[in-house]
Amino acid sequence: MNTYHDLLKGDEWAVFGQFTTDQQAGKTRPEVQKAYPPDAKLIDLVPPEAFNVGTRPVIDVIRERRSHRYFTDGALSLEELSFLLWATQGVRGVSPDGTRYYRNVPSGGNRHPLETYLSIHRVEGVDVGLYRYLPLDHKLLLLRADQEVGTQVSQAALHQSSSHEVKEFYFIQDCAVAFVWTAIPYRSEWRYTTAGSKLVAIDAGHICQNLYLACGALGLGTCSIGAINRKKMDAVLGVDGEEEFSFYAAPVGRVE
Ligand SMILES: Cc1cc2nc3c(=O)[nH]c(=O)nc-3n(C[C@H](O)[C@H](O)[C@H](O)COP(=O)(O)O)c2cc1C
Repeated sequence: MNTYHDLLKGDEWAVFGQFTTDQQAGKTRPEVQKAYPPDAKLIDLVPPEAFNVGTRPVIDVIRERRSHRYFTDGALSLEELSFLLWATQGVRGVSPDGTRYYRNVPSGGNRHPLETYLSIHRVEGVDVGLYRYLPLDHKLLLLRADQEVGTQVSQAALHQSSSHEVKEFYFIQDCAVAFVWTAIPYRSEWRYTTAGSKLVAIDAGHICQNLYLACGALGLGTCSIGAINRKKMDAVLGVDGEEEFSFYAAPVGRVE
């Protein structure tokens, strides 16, 4: 028996319903978006109804989908970044009682247990630094205006590189913007207890697949990054490593 398989088997579902979940026990519903200080610096994004980008036919985008590990030094526009964030975690509607937010990706039980951090290196009009996406506000929250954040994020992702024209290209450090997703598993566990863990991993796949498709629609490229030194990345992002920890990443840039 291989205990490493247990998470993937998800056998907790066989006994689901035989014990009380935190939701059934009346415990407080976890926040759907991490709180932030009232004096935080926020950056307005382009609203989805104003998008002029992303109109390429989906059949072409799917045909051409592949992982990219080399990017040009071109910048992204704010509209392009707004489109990528909307496609991966954007909110498309709210329930009448205001408690449920529906997004552009599916999520087990609509729990949406992942948060999006960005290491911004080249986005027009946005300073280099570490940011977090606020899906409910469709804004960016500045966490740290730090020129070194790209190198730090890259090193926490094993400083991965590819060979391009005989030199090494550090595609996480040298991309235009690196996405890093953290997991807040309690959002799923509140409803599903330990059965929620497998759902968190599946949810992450949907988010990154939408990033691939959204990049394809804009002439941008990306690459899923699962090889992460979790503790190092948690330190770069400033998350506690228990209730919230780094989970998955993806560099984005212009492709030739
Ligand atoms: C869950 C997951 C984790 C991955 N992790 C990495 C990674 O850490 N580094 C990397 O260069 N590629 C990574 N990849 C990209 C795969 O290597 C790539 O999808 C695969 O080789 C197929 O190539 P394609 O995406 O171009 O079809 C990952 C892909 C997935 C889905």
